[in-house]
Amino acid sequence: MASVTLSRFFIFFTLLPVITHSIPFVLFHGVADSCTKKGVKHFTDLLSEWSNTQGYCIEIGNGVWDSWFMPFEDQVEIACEKVKSMSELNQGYNIVGLSQGNLVGRGVLEFCDGAPPVKNFISVAGPHAGEASVPFCGTGLMCVLVDSLIKLAIYSPTLQEHLAPANYIKIPTDLDGYREGCKFLPKLNNEFEKNATYKERFSSLQNLVLIMFDKETVLVPKETSWFGYFPDGAWDPILPAQETRLYIEDWIGLRTLDEAGRVKFVNVSGRHLDISDDDMKEYIVSYLIDENTPESPVLTKSTRQQHSSSSDENTPKSLVLTKSTRQQHSSSSGFIRKLGGQQDLQLKVIQKL
Ligand SMILES: *[C@@H]1O[C@H](CO)[C@@H](O)[C@H](O)[C@H]1NC(C)=O
Ligand SMILES: *[C@@H]1O[C@H](CO)[C@@H](O)[C@H](O)[C@H]1NC(C)=O
Repeated sequence: MASVTLSRFFIFFTLLPVITHSIPFVLFHGVADSCTKKGVKHFTDLLSEWSNTQGYCIEIGNGVWDSWFMPFEDQVEIACEKVKSMSELNQGYNIVGLSQGNLVGRGVLEFCDGAPPVKNFISVAGPHAGEASVPFCGTGLMCVLVDSLIKLAIYSPTLQEHLAPANYIKIPTDLDGYREGCKFLPKLNNEFEKNATYKERFSSLQNLVLIMFDKETVLVPKETSWFGYFPDGAWDPILPAQETRLYIEDWIGLRTLDEAGRVKFVNVSGRHLDISDDDMKEYIVSYLIDENTPESPVLTKSTRQQHSSSSDENTPKSLVLTKSTRQQHSSSSGFIRKLGGQQDLQLKVIQKL
C-alpha cells in the first residue's frame, strides 16, 4: 500500500514541468581591482559557467580607484542600493567575496535594510577579523604613497575617510586607537556597540565558506580569513577563530553558525587569491549550484526529496547525477589565476598547463 502511494507520488512529480530556478551569485572584488579587468571577469564567468548560474560582478564607483579611497560605509551603501535594484536577485542570492570585497559583501549582508536574502557566503581570503599590515601592493607610486600615509596615522579621521583599507586595519597593540578611530570593522564585527540585527542577519546564512591560503602574505595574519587573529594587546600567539572573543562571545553569530555545522573552514594551497580550478570547483562552485536546480531534465526538487526520503532500489539512475556531475567537474585541472591586483596594480591570469 505504502509503496503504491509512493510511486504515484513520484510519477506525479516527475511529470511536472521544471519550474524551479537557480539563484544567482554576486561577486565583490578586492582592492585595486575592477569588474572589467580580465582576471575578475574571467573568474566570474568561470564560476557562472561551472555552476550554471547567473553571476554578477558588482562594481562600486569606478573600481580600482574607489576600492582604494572610498570609505567602506559608502562602498557598502552603493553595493546595497545596487543589490536592491537588481530584480534578478529578489528570490535570494549567494555572495562570493574576494579579499577586501568580503567586507563589502558582509556589509551588504549585515547592514542593508530591505535587501533580498543571502543564502551562501563564500569568502576567498577575506580580512574578516582585521588586517595588521598594509596590504602588499608592490612598488608603484600609489603604493609607496599609501604605505607612508598609513604609517603616519591609520586611525586619524583623514585616513579613515580617504583610505579604504584603513577601515579594517586592526593593530593589536593600539586597540584604543582602533576603538576610537576605526570607522568600519568594529561595526561590522559588532565589536563594541552591538546591534542584534547584524548578528541575526549573519546567522541566517545557510553556509559560510571561509577559504584561507597556506602561502598567504597579503593578509596578516592569514588566519583572519577564518576569523582568527592576534590576541588583544599582543602580536602572539595567533588565536584560532574559536579562541577569539568574537567567537566565544558570539558577536555576530559565527559561533551560532559553526555550532549548526554551517561554517566550512577551508585551507587551500597557494598565495593570496591564487586558487586552482579544482579548489574553485570544490569549495566555491558546489555552493553556487542550487539544490533546486535540475542538473538533468528529470531531476526536479520533488524527485530528489523523494530520493532522499526512501531507499527504494527502483529509484531511477538519473537521480544520482549530481554526484557524478560534480566529480567530473573536479577531475579536470587547469590554470592558476592571479586575482586581486596587489602586484603593481596589475591583474594577471597565468596559464599553467
Ligand atoms: C540596528 O540595525 C538596524 C538595521 O540596520 C537598524 O534599523 C537599527 O536602528 C539598529 N539599532 C541600533 C540600536 O542602532
Ligand atoms: C593548511 O595546509 C598546509 C599545506 O597543506 C598545511 O601545512 C597547514 O598546516 C594547513 N593549515 C591548517 C590550519 O590546516
